[in-house]
Amino acid sequence: MAESRLASATPGSRLSDTLHEVRQYHERTKHHFHRYARSLGFMNWANEPNPFRRYAGSPVAELPLLSSAELFESPPYDDLYRPGAVHSAPASLASLSRFFHYALAITAWKEHAGSRWSLRSNPSSGDLHPTEGYLLAGPLPGLHRNPALYHYAPRDHVLERRADWSAEGFGELMRGFPAGCFLVGLSSIFWREAWKYGERAYRYCHHDLGHAIGTVRLAAAALGWRAVLLHGTSDAGIERLLGLDRTGDFEESEAEHPGALLLVRPSGTAAPARLPLFLDADAVERLRPLRWHGRASRLSPEEPVIWEAIDQVARASRKARTDSVDTLTAGDSPDKPRDPSHPGAGVAGRAAEPSSGPPAGRIIAQRRSALAFDGRTSLPAPRFFTMLERVMPCADRPLLERPTPWDVLPWEPAIDLAVFVHRIDGLPPGLYALLREPGRLQRLKRATRPEFLWSAPSGAPPGFPLYQLQPGDLRQVAIDVSCGQEIAGLGAFSLGMIADFDAALERSGAWFYPRLFWEAGLVGQVLYLEAEAAGARATGIGCFFDDPMHEVLGLEGTAFQDLYHFATGGPVEDARLTTLPAYPPRPGSGA
Ligand SMILES: Cc1cc2nc3c(=O)[nH]c(=O)nc-3n(C[C@H](O)[C@H](O)[C@H](O)COP(=O)(O)O)c2cc1C
Repeated sequence: MAESRLASATPGSRLSDTLHEVRQYHERTKHHFHRYARSLGFMNWANEPNPFRRYAGSPVAELPLLSSAELFESPPYDDLYRPGAVHSAPASLASLSRFFHYALAITAWKEHAGSRWSLRSNPSSGDLHPTEGYLLAGPLPGLHRNPALYHYAPRDHVLERRADWSAEGFGELMRGFPAGCFLVGLSSIFWREAWKYGERAYRYCHHDLGHAIGTVRLAAAALGWRAVLLHGTSDAGIERLLGLDRTGDFEESEAEHPGALLLVRPSGTAAPARLPLFLDADAVERLRPLRWHGRASRLSPEEPVIWEAIDQVARASRKARTDSVDTLTAGDSPDKPRDPSHPGAGVAGRAAEPSSGPPAGRIIAQRRSALAFDGRTSLPAPRFFTMLERVMPCADRPLLERPTPWDVLPWEPAIDLAVFVHRIDGLPPGLYALLREPGRLQRLKRATRPEFLWSAPSGAPPGFPLYQLQPGDLRQVAIDVSCGQEIAGLGAFSLGMIADFDAALERSGAWFYPRLFWEAGLVGQVLYLEAEAAGARATGIGCFFDDPMHEVLGLEGTAFQDLYHFATGGPVEDARLTTLPAYPPRPGSGA
């Protein structure tokens, strides 16, 4: 079956019903100038959810803690995007530790006026961190003699063993994949975001999940590994594998919802001619753990507030069926350079001379959201073009030939960018469009304001699908549509991520709705790191006024919908905050 033409309605419900419910949710959770999406309207601090889940009673394996200096010992950041440039690390406890440091770990603690909060490699709306991570791996020295399921606990950088599997069961599950592969599961605890944001929280959980897909893919890249979504697997399959359907283990705790499942391919795992993008449903069903361990911790002292709209959209957008999809590998191996040339990916796609520049580990560990921009810093146009090139998926190539990290999402890209250029040296300020799928040009031209120019900006790489729509100072407009947040106007540029909404949902079904947010989150994650590499800083913006932004673009109806905003510029640091190390030395470590 073609990668992007899966259809998977909830059993017993018609496709049109679930689509209707998803559309209804999307409409009712729009922010309007005079009415925000429904939330409690106040913060119930007494019921604030704990951002760190633990499974009490499960055996714990410590991942070796890496110091900042050790985390920085990594390939140059630019090499993550150069096919074949990073030598593959062998799978070991040490490399897994580095992988989780880069993907989901704490990167610093912040302190102010008696409060302390942590920052992680993966950003999160409101720093609430709904995403939980799991590892499903074969036997590994230092971990366990059997294949097992582990929960990653970022507070202490440890793996909690949730289940032991037999070698036969795991072998059957992984049949069709190269030897030595492992799986990473991502789930969401909706309550963590809903506690603060109410009904719109479901969107934020999936943005965050998209960011985490990005951190996982780029962490793999820093180790010379590949990763791809096992996109065909049903939600029930993911639930079962991760133990999320074990009601007894969640009896006293807030629910965790299935998200993404990724296949990670370390060194020496040359792929077969076709790589499955699903786990066999029967093998998942038959996988009976030898033993389960632990119970999920409760996160809030009181019962969570129930947001019926979230429960409903979560039900409607469940992926009910496993689809047997696969992808061509063209005999690729992790060490084989992929074709780097692409007309839409000028400098970013070229693997010429060896990269210099900052190490990947430093860029990943230093990533932060800017709290404010200085209103002065500009970026040179060539740098701006490179940043935009890094979000080009080059989807006319086979999946595994696409540039990192776009080889992780097995679908036709659905997100284009409407960019407010404020301060880019060599580029007139104004509104621009970046078409991540250049074939959408005519449809977008027809759907947007007739007065838009659609002209090629001077200095852009030849054939690069960036268009100038309207010159002018749009700083205040950008602020206004981003809930009045100054970061959208005081940086070098900000943008809205515009989804090909109706077409994507009609092509695949309601279950594709969260995936649109995953793609937007992944675009955001690439831009976060690009901003750091450019000596600037960025911030994801989940709070924006949906329809007013559509009006800026002239969009009517729901064919195209704005899903996420993003801003980049020169940060203003908050001198009142104290920064503390991510992990204090472990007792007895001698450090
Ligand atoms: C999906 C998403 C939406 C966000 N929305 C906003 C926003 O509207 N305004 C804002 O100032 N920051 C926003 N942020 C930034 C978060 O507050 C920030 O990621 C979080 O506090 C963690 O800090 P860190 O990114 O420095 O690790 C958003 C981040 C994400 C991932």
